[in-house]
Amino acid sequence: MSFMDEWVYTDTVKDHFMNPKNILSDPDYKEDGKGMVGSMACGDQMLVALKIENDIVVDLKWKTYGCASAIASTSMMSEMAIGMTLDEAYHLTPEMITDRLGGLPNHKFHCSVLGDKALRAAIDDYLERQGRENTFKKSVAKIICECKGVTDQQIEALVQSEEALSFEQLQEQTGLGTVCGKCKNTAKELFDELLHIYGH
Ligand code: FES
Repeated sequence: MSFMDEWVYTDTVKDHFMNPKNILSDPDYKEDGKGMVGSMACGDQMLVALKIENDIVVDLKWKTYGCASAIASTSMMSEMAIGMTLDEAYHLTPEMITDRLGGLPNHKFHCSVLGDKALRAAIDDYLERQGRENTFKKSVAKIICECKGVTDQQIEALVQSEEALSFEQLQEQTGLGTVCGKCKNTAKELFDELLHIYGH
């Protein structure tokens, strides 16, 4: 059996992996906002650079050291995001990208979150450079711990800033999981994924 016979991805994934679209190759690319997530240490760093006019993404370039799934999903994400308003682009989810790819193997799903996280980071950077309030951030926050009202974005901010590098530190800072405890498994999964993404 040849390598390609064993390929478990859809033809669309294969196409985007073999011929990725909108790769950042110009070292002098002048972006209006850029976002970087992941780390070289675990081999899946992702950079997204945007040009924005009238709150529309008019160009998006990216580069990654990630795996086939990260490359294909970011290539697809780049095609989807160009032409979107900032609001639409901010709400692009890994599920929407994966659907357009015709699916990814389950264990590869986490690789596809890097692209949309870097896209949101690039929009955050753009708004910051413009001195504008970021109203999108709150709109995508999801409550993880209902008892303590802790959102995924609070958890992400604590991991990103290295204020919570263990689950115990996260609990100390937020009180998450200390009342009924039913959020613990979901919170732990999210926390581990974020540690990986931010390379801690
Ligand atoms: S939902 Fe988090 S402790 Fe109850």
